[in-house]
Amino acid sequence: MSTAIHKLGRTHARFTFFVCFMAALAGLLFGLDIGVIAGALPFLSTDLHINNQQQEWVVSSMMLGAALGALASCWMSAQLGRKFSLLTGAVLFIVGSLWSALSPNVESLIIARILLGLAVGIASYTAPIYLSEIAPEKIRGSMISMYQLMITIGILAAYLSDTAFSYSGSWRWMLGIITIPAILLFIGVLFLPGSPRWLAAHGRYYEAQKVLSMLRSSNEQVHKELEEIRESLKIKQSGWALFKDNSNFRRAVFLGVLLQVMQQFTGMNVIMYYAPKIFGIAGFTSTANQMWGTVIVGFVNVLATFIAIGLVDRWGRKPTLKLGLLVMAGGMGVLGTLLHLGVDTEFQRYFTIIMLMLFIVGFAMSAGPLIWVLCSEIQPLKGRDFGITVSTATNWIANMIVGATFLTMLETLGNANTFWVYSALNVIFIILTISLIPETKNVSLEHIERNLMTGKPLREIGAQD
Ligand code: BGC
Repeated sequence: MSTAIHKLGRTHARFTFFVCFMAALAGLLFGLDIGVIAGALPFLSTDLHINNQQQEWVVSSMMLGAALGALASCWMSAQLGRKFSLLTGAVLFIVGSLWSALSPNVESLIIARILLGLAVGIASYTAPIYLSEIAPEKIRGSMISMYQLMITIGILAAYLSDTAFSYSGSWRWMLGIITIPAILLFIGVLFLPGSPRWLAAHGRYYEAQKVLSMLRSSNEQVHKELEEIRESLKIKQSGWALFKDNSNFRRAVFLGVLLQVMQQFTGMNVIMYYAPKIFGIAGFTSTANQMWGTVIVGFVNVLATFIAIGLVDRWGRKPTLKLGLLVMAGGMGVLGTLLHLGVDTEFQRYFTIIMLMLFIVGFAMSAGPLIWVLCSEIQPLKGRDFGITVSTATNWIANMIVGATFLTMLETLGNANTFWVYSALNVIFIILTISLIPETKNVSLEHIERNLMTGKPLREIGAQD
């Protein structure tokens, strides 16, 4: 009997793992699509004869699509279901990848990138929500950081595959190969169960119970969770109405927007999208050097994410964020100074790259995962969907602005000034973190909500009273 129960427990655990893995695969695709353009851009620009402005549009059209996708998926995942949204995302990933690989000209490529963006936007909103609704309570916290880890692994995988194809210069293969994981995502999602919370919200309690009994190891647990879902559903989502009527909620939405603007204007994606170009500026002129340098950037990004996973719950969000921003300000500042003085010797060249890596460590250990964690913690239950959609869409709009202005900044301000601007922004963000960002470590979401709604200053909404 006890072995039978043990076996049953193992089957549940395996199924839960499969479900979480599939949803996290959406994170992987998010990363693949962010990363792939860095290596493909130099080749496709030559091949399609496009100028800097057009390059910026090739990069940033995806973010425009992603902002729209994030906004649309709030409605879609509430009305048609998380699973339906993920399937739609997977189809768009497939179509967008194939289309971009086959694009005859820059206009067609930009349309394909918007489609891919819609897919990324849907994935970036739906997958974390699905994960948090399906994961057992004990591992729910680490899930979001894991999701970020999958994004960074996706970026690294894209850099590696770009490098492999760079020897033949085949940008079409770089973009097209992503169709394979996209097809895997589509097939995997077909086998995913619906989210129990979504099913229950649509009155389908029997199905919700069936799903939960596939995912949890005891009947008691299933009933307990179903009861909790029933309780929490008594609070109806009414984000827009709350936004209009309640200034405290407006503060939470503002905080979510600020957090995402901060994440993007650290300048991280300047490196994610234009790494080979930056290596070129630093004096590494051969394509192989630039491509392998970019792979190292991706690798450092993955590794440093583990620092965050270890620190968020122990050291707290705020100190980690402050340290990360300081490291980023320093990295960008010194990088700008080196470019100002001129990078001539071998030593100077490598020092420039070390500063670039330092910046990546600063981001990955802090703002990368932490901003997503904070954004999911600060919204009151009633306005959660609304608050998270607004902050996710902000992430993509800010991302687009950064992607769409970098080359122009280099052209008009010069290399050194461009990096100094990002360094200065990181300094401003340290001040904003000190004055506005709350510490939410070890505080229940209900407690944060109470503090927010009774009007405590934003930086104190995580206080234990
Ligand atoms: C950000 C992305 C960024 C990625 C880098 C994510 O948290 O939202 O914009 O490219 O981290 O690892």
